[in-house]
Amino acid sequence: MLKALIIFFGILALGYAASVGTASDASEVCQSQDELWGGEDIRKFYFCLDGKVIADECDSGYYFVNNATISGCLPSDLMKPSCVNLDTKVPDCTGTSKLQPQAADDVASFYLCTSEGATLLSCPDGKAFVSQDGYLGCFAWSEWRSLRNCVDD
Ligand SMILES: *[C@@H]1O[C@H](CO)[C@@H](O)[C@H](O)[C@H]1NC(C)=O
Repeated sequence: MLKALIIFFGILALGYAASVGTASDASEVCQSQDELWGGEDIRKFYFCLDGKVIADECDSGYYFVNNATISGCLPSDLMKPSCVNLDTKVPDCTGTSKLQPQAADDVASFYLCTSEGATLLSCPDGKAFVSQDGYLGCFAWSEWRSLRNCVDD
């Protein structure tokens, strides 16, 4: 447990250093003149206006999809289950939940038990929370997608 926490905070610290000055291609190059497109961050989408890329974000609880049938923000219960957290609970801060950060409904946030009780925290910019297959912490969206198997069909 302790090891997992140390790794977790290590990743958090790394995240702050790494997120400075990086931007993904999705937000820089016009990919379409008349359609929205998504990026690694499942909450975000982009469109082109006068040759410039405009970034926007789905409302809280909605996620961006662009496939043969849909292009837009969908509520989490209509998303691929591997891409969303449904029905997460505020941890009671006993047992395992006391020692490890826990997933929250917002995939880029997590609960941490502190002396104040369960606290909802956000991952650093450009990262989202993973707790599966031995991975625990905030990971870059591209890693988050592959670890969670949340990739386009
Ligand atoms: C498009 O994405 C939605 C949400 O993930 C899914 O329900 C639908 O089946 C997808 N359509 C295609 C053609 O993949």
